[in-house]
Amino acid sequence: MSSASGTGQVHHILFLCLGNICRSPAAEGIFKAYVDELGVADSYKIDSAGTGDYHLGKSPDARMLAACKTRGYELTSRGRQVEPADFERFDHIIAMDRRNVENVLLLEPTAEQRKKMKLLSDFLGDDSRTDVPDPYHGGEDGFYFVIDMIKAACPEIDRRIRTPF
Ligand code: 4NP
Repeated sequence: MSSASGTGQVHHILFLCLGNICRSPAAEGIFKAYVDELGVADSYKIDSAGTGDYHLGKSPDARMLAACKTRGYELTSRGRQVEPADFERFDHIIAMDRRNVENVLLLEPTAEQRKKMKLLSDFLGDDSRTDVPDPYHGGEDGFYFVIDMIKAACPEIDRRIRTPF
């Protein structure tokens, strides 16, 4: 839910993946760093969650932590599962892949709440992949691919959310 602050509207953004230990914690950390550097961090509350419950309370995957550290990002989130109240708390829920969207719709959001759902690739060019690929079962390169995809989406996420018209 958007709320007023000293600097104006605060946009509540939730990044969503399956395990909440690879892609969405990276998106949370990278987007936070992006808006921080832009000087607009006060305009956002940023969080992440997973549709699964496999890694509750856990730090992000060590391989994602290492890849992000190499690129200058620190990840501080802990694994949590998305819950129905997230559809009220957040203005935008940005999923990493289409399966995440299918899974979160099992929580039966209202039609209005469903409008909050987006894919990260909605903020990339038409020739990009639709899904941010799950790097969990793959090699190191997959983690850097995910970081690059998220990084590329940040300017458009910020632009579309802060200047929606
Ligand atoms: P994530 O990656 O959805 O990007 O956090 C995964 C992490 C763990 C599992 C699957 C995907 N898992 O099956 O445990």
